[in-house]
Amino acid sequence: MDYKAYIEEKLPEELRAEGVKDLIVTPPDPAMGDFALPCFKFAKLFRKSPAVIAEELAKTLQSDDVISEISAVNGYLNFKIDKRGFARETLSRILTEREKYGASEMGKGKTICIDYSSVNIAKPFHIGHLSTTVLGGALYRIYKFLGYRTVGINHLGDYGTQFGKLISAYKHWGNREDAEKRGIHAVNELYVRFNKEATEEMEQEAREYFRLIESGDREANELFEWFKELTMRYVRTIYDRLHVTFDSYAGERFYTDKMQPVLDELEEKGLLKESQGAKIVDLEPYGMPPCLILRSDGASLYATRDLATAIYRKNTYDFDKCLYVVAYQQNLHFKQVFKVLELMGKEWAKDLVHVAYGMVSLEDGAMSTREGKVVWLEDVISRCVEKALKVITEKNPALENKEEVAEKVGVGAVVFGALYNNKIKDIVFSYDKALNFEGETSVYVQYTCARCSSVLAKARAEGTDWNFEEIPELAPQEFELIKELALLPETLVSAAEKYEPSILARFCVDAAQKFNKFYIDCKILQAETEEKKKFRLALTEATLITLTNALTLLGIGVPEKM
Ligand code: ARG
Repeated sequence: MDYKAYIEEKLPEELRAEGVKDLIVTPPDPAMGDFALPCFKFAKLFRKSPAVIAEELAKTLQSDDVISEISAVNGYLNFKIDKRGFARETLSRILTEREKYGASEMGKGKTICIDYSSVNIAKPFHIGHLSTTVLGGALYRIYKFLGYRTVGINHLGDYGTQFGKLISAYKHWGNREDAEKRGIHAVNELYVRFNKEATEEMEQEAREYFRLIESGDREANELFEWFKELTMRYVRTIYDRLHVTFDSYAGERFYTDKMQPVLDELEEKGLLKESQGAKIVDLEPYGMPPCLILRSDGASLYATRDLATAIYRKNTYDFDKCLYVVAYQQNLHFKQVFKVLELMGKEWAKDLVHVAYGMVSLEDGAMSTREGKVVWLEDVISRCVEKALKVITEKNPALENKEEVAEKVGVGAVVFGALYNNKIKDIVFSYDKALNFEGETSVYVQYTCARCSSVLAKARAEGTDWNFEEIPELAPQEFELIKELALLPETLVSAAEKYEPSILARFCVDAAQKFNKFYIDCKILQAETEEKKKFRLALTEATLITLTNALTLLGIGVPEKM
């Protein structure tokens, strides 16, 4: 049940017009009330003090079997809800909807494109790609769950002079067998070596190879496709481990033949300017440096391709929104691209959103992409899984399928580490903190799920079901937990609207904490009455369903035993 909507219904017309639903809060101290409406905003409207407004409203509004008490305190209008009614309502909803609990149809008929992960061919897939991959993956799943048509796009970095360099390096130092065997690592080494050792002659040769790729030369293109294949083969194994998928891998190269029409349109609309031989769009009136469209040698740029990309996506998918999950280092780039599209008269430019995020580094050594000294994402994941295996083995030596559990726990810790904080913050990842069973971690949440599963398994083993009929008088721990579980649907909406999966990650920790408080304070299998036992088991299953849905949407697996 949507209590906020219910409360809104009770309020006078003038207030509803103000959109009161979004103003309703959950007071930090449940003794005050379960929901509260701050009346400060209405002082102007009614020309009265907030305290008086709250008191008058409290007098006129009637309690009923959903809202059991309405009172005024210091400018707040507090609502107590009928706890048992609320519990019945929430539990039956969760236990009926199950893996659909939290899903909605709000996105019906709407399309969201999400550009994320967007790896660069023949370059390392490093820890810098962690956030875009898992943030994008989480947004993709959340939007889908909310009924949107989602299009996940990996805008491959597969265009540029570096591929000429790579071919040159391969011709001089490469070895097919080694490259097949060591894949992207071998390819990347060639690239790094080129940057260190290439002679002027090789540089010249590299430019020629790049030209050959561009002009469709067969051998050059075969090599290029092969490097791409080696990269993708590798990258896909990591996507599998992170549970991330894409609907399109149309990268920068895909737009090679789609840039000319954009250039023509820019020209036609009088937006292109000549500047030192190059073509630019002047953005000075908007307080930005010019957007470079063609270099003086006629080569296109990253921004040129992004203009063609946005137009192509609009034409192909007719999106309602197109998100770019890309680090904040590219803030200016996207501001420029979006502005140019706006100047071209694309009214949909307002639907393009740069979802920017901060840097991730490791506690034990900063990352550096220069000189091939890179922290590969795969190594971080594998190391975390290894450590997870150690931690679980210590905790539970008799556990079956330890490797499988360790994979879920280790990968979960990496994903959660990148998702738990507000996305714009820089993050320092620590293996020990991420794998702390008592911390605000995925392991803690996963462990809570395993705890729920174990209680339910025991009940099943002794032949107890939890088809509850009556809701008993509720302990505060029980009610607090139910209230938390009831928040999943609106949590998902706000995570999607703010492009902020951290809201969902925090929800997981809050719900797990509330469950554990309940678990410690209230006996489940040894409950005082049969009625209480059934109810508590139902609450345990509802917790498991809610947390499983939330973790799955974040891309984190849920072990049954830990
Ligand atoms: N490959 C780029 C990078 O690693 C990110 C591409 C993001 N997407 C885009 N449409 N520009 O920096």
